[in-house]
Amino acid sequence: MQDKEKIISISNLSYKYQNEESGEYLEVLKDVSLDVHSGEFISLVGPSGCGKSTILKILSGLIKTKKGKVVSKAKKVAMVFQNSALFPWLSVKENIEFGLKMEGIKKSEREKIVAKKIEEVGLSGFENEYPIELSGGMKQRVGIARALAVNPDVLLIDEPFSSLDVFTAEKLRVLLLDIWLKYKVTIIMVTHLVEEAVELSDRILIFTPRPTSIKNIVEIKMTRPRDKRSEEYYNLVDKISKQIE
Ligand SMILES: Nc1ncnc2c1ncn2[C@@H]1O[C@H](COP(=O)(O)OP(=O)(O)OP(=O)(O)O)[C@@H](O)[C@H]1O
Ligand SMILES: [Mg+2]
Repeated sequence: MQDKEKIISISNLSYKYQNEESGEYLEVLKDVSLDVHSGEFISLVGPSGCGKSTILKILSGLIKTKKGKVVSKAKKVAMVFQNSALFPWLSVKENIEFGLKMEGIKKSEREKIVAKKIEEVGLSGFENEYPIELSGGMKQRVGIARALAVNPDVLLIDEPFSSLDVFTAEKLRVLLLDIWLKYKVTIIMVTHLVEEAVELSDRILIFTPRPTSIKNIVEIKMTRPRDKRSEEYYNLVDKISKQIE
């Protein structure tokens, strides 16, 4: 990874939320510095409430940094949310199409892209269903397709599979790896499942409790697909789990 181009560079990033009523500050991020390389798969793990989602929100531009710096060469950043965050009044097809419409892409082109994404995420036959008719796994497939439709070079993913049963989650992880390999997109994923992080990532960032900073970075060199019954896998999961306070 070291020889690859830097796509995002975070230096000394700190962040506080301010309570609207009391005006009090909650210090969440403290001096987070990190270089993300193009095409890398990074996972963020750490104790609940430490500030992992906040980092993704800053990287996606949802919230603005006040202290520290984020330099990004990414042309387009897309996000996949934990609860899929689909528009309930739009069909599968329309949900995936939404971002493209916003970008002013013409109808014939949009339809081509949407059809391709639907096939890629395994949703053929469900184009006209509405989110309420879909299982949790299918909703996440739509969320992934919607993010991919705009052809991002950075994909931010927040606990995408945590509410799914183990079999569905595993299928989606395989899908995500296929997509990552095919499009060489840079992925930054938050997860509380160390096993998931070891299965997927090039590097795992372990965060401290709040106000959070990077406690350790573990590089995973195992070849993919990773053997989850191997001693190496087990040892990595064990080593990382022990570092999460
Ligand atoms: N909009 C907000 N206003 C005020 N406080 C917030 C806001 N969003 C998050 N927080 C607080 O900031 C801290 C960090 O939140 P964040 O969602 O980034 O944590 P997290 O590491 O993603 O946690 P989890 O693992 O539970 O998802 C938490 O204490 C949370 O309550
Ligand atoms: Mg979170």
